[in-house]
Amino acid sequence: MYSSCAFVLALCVAIAASLNSEQSNDIEDDGVPREINLSSRNLTALPTVHDINPLVKVLNMSMNRIVNATDELRSFTRLEVLILRFNNFTHLRFLPEPCGLRRLDASRNNISSLEGPLASCSLLESLNLTANNLKSLPDGVFSNMNRLKVLYLAGNGLTNLPQGVFRGLRNLERLRLNGNRLREVRRDLFHGLHELRYLDFSLNNLTSLPLLEDCCKSLQGAYFKNNSIADASEAAVRAFLRGNSSTDRDMTGNPLRPEALRWTARDPDLRLLVHDDFCHCGLLHHVLSRATLILCVRVRCGAGAAFPNWVAAVKALDAPAPTPAAPAAPAGAS
Ligand SMILES: *[C@@H]1O[C@H](CO)[C@@H](O)[C@H](O)[C@H]1NC(C)=O
Ligand SMILES: *[C@@H]1O[C@H](CO)[C@@H](O)[C@H](O)[C@H]1NC(C)=O
Ligand SMILES: *[C@@H]1O[C@H](CO)[C@@H](O)[C@H](O)[C@H]1NC(C)=O
Ligand SMILES: *[C@@H]1O[C@H](CO)[C@@H](O)[C@H](O)[C@H]1NC(C)=O
Ligand SMILES: *[C@@H]1O[C@H](CO)[C@@H](O)[C@H](O)[C@H]1NC(C)=O
Ligand SMILES: *[C@@H]1O[C@H](CO)[C@@H](O)[C@H](O)[C@H]1NC(C)=O
Ligand SMILES: *[C@@H]1O[C@H](CO)[C@@H](O)[C@H](O)[C@H]1NC(C)=O
Ligand SMILES: *[C@@H]1O[C@H](CO)[C@@H](O)[C@H](O)[C@H]1NC(C)=O
Ligand SMILES: *[C@@H]1O[C@H](CO)[C@@H](O)[C@H](O)[C@H]1NC(C)=O
Ligand SMILES: *[C@@H]1O[C@H](CO)[C@@H](O)[C@H](O)[C@H]1NC(C)=O
Repeated sequence: MYSSCAFVLALCVAIAASLNSEQSNDIEDDGVPREINLSSRNLTALPTVHDINPLVKVLNMSMNRIVNATDELRSFTRLEVLILRFNNFTHLRFLPEPCGLRRLDASRNNISSLEGPLASCSLLESLNLTANNLKSLPDGVFSNMNRLKVLYLAGNGLTNLPQGVFRGLRNLERLRLNGNRLREVRRDLFHGLHELRYLDFSLNNLTSLPLLEDCCKSLQGAYFKNNSIADASEAAVRAFLRGNSSTDRDMTGNPLRPEALRWTARDPDLRLLVHDDFCHCGLLHHVLSRATLILCVRVRCGAGAAFPNWVAAVKALDAPAPTPAAPAAPAGAS
């Protein structure tokens, strides 16, 4: 028994309860509990090697009240899954070293720094830092994580992303950056992210649609909702629209300038309805003859607003040959 109980009474009681619970801890052949569940125990500290078996693979510390941690977990090098969700951690300097983590959920804490062993956790497949207090990211912090599939950074205070911060994440499938304060996305931010499937930049302060260049061969969802996007280059819109009918895209809640989509009129296959009437309210559907696309542009005319807000919801269709060319008349016009 590892509990020396020299530590924190609550922790000892919790560990004893945890070890008695068949439901949460399956003991492996070597007698090492595979998983230890210490969630929701009002704990104020992490366990040490004196408290629990350091060979444990899964440790769940979610929903406690841990604020301060130093190097308690440093020698838990067999840990593969560490759940720290909903505590009050301010940093991750206490992670195991060498780090064998495959999944780390440190969401809903107060983490403002990623310094420490995290950057050496090269086996990570899922890293959840949602709802913390990150204002910036150290350059290169993810560069060793070439197995990472899920990276959640939503709900922090990020104002910019270092050049190449996601470089090397060649297996990344899901990236969430919604709810930050990003104003711009550097041109090559997505370079090499070939496996990216879901990308969420909603609720930031982007002013132009970023170019999803050299990435995302099989994009299944791209979200740029509620930014300040007024401009969108032709290349950026084309990249945003790539995909098929099951690709979900949303950039509603942006003050997109109608001029930004005017180029679409030149393209017979890819034509978006661009309506000059700034105060034409309603949802306009435009299905083109050789349609690969349906674009619904809703022009909102806020009472007294000098410039109405263009709310565009875009759905790409890879529909098989549509019925012969209906005259391209905007619904609701005329
Ligand atoms: C972990 O322990 C908490 C608190 O006792 C309990 O509510 C929860 O159901 C347990 N979780 C699992 C996965 O066993
Ligand atoms: C945690 O603290 C709350 C409030 O003080 C209490 O209601 C709850 O029973 C405590 N939980 C445990 C597992 O001790
Ligand atoms: C950790 O514990 C929480 C609360 O009991 C539970 O909801 C969650 O599924 C657990 N996570 C893991 C990986 O066991
Ligand atoms: C974190 O700390 C803040 C401020 O001290 C407190 O209000 C909050 O309840 C704490 N949260 C948790 C999960 O302990
Ligand atoms: C955390 O550590 C700091 C500095 O060591 C100390 O002042 C503070 O009281 C500690 N907070 C808690 C909740 O233990
Ligand atoms: C990440 O954390 C958020 C907030 O706690 C949670 O809702 C989400 O399910 C988590 N996702 C993963 C993949 O851990
Ligand atoms: C978050 O951490 C900062 C110190 O980095 C502290 O000033 C602040 O009170 C903490 N917030 C909460 C909610 O605990
Ligand atoms: C970011 O956008 C939000 C919502 O549009 C706005 O309230 C906030 O002032 C903007 N912040 C900056 C720094 O531009
Ligand atoms: C759409 O593309 C995705 C990703 O490339 C693919 O998995 C899916 O099967 C495609 N769906 C259709 C209906 O073609
Ligand atoms: C996002 O934008 C839409 C449309 O402008 C608005 O109705 C909604 O309240 C916004 N959501 C948030 C969370 O700001």
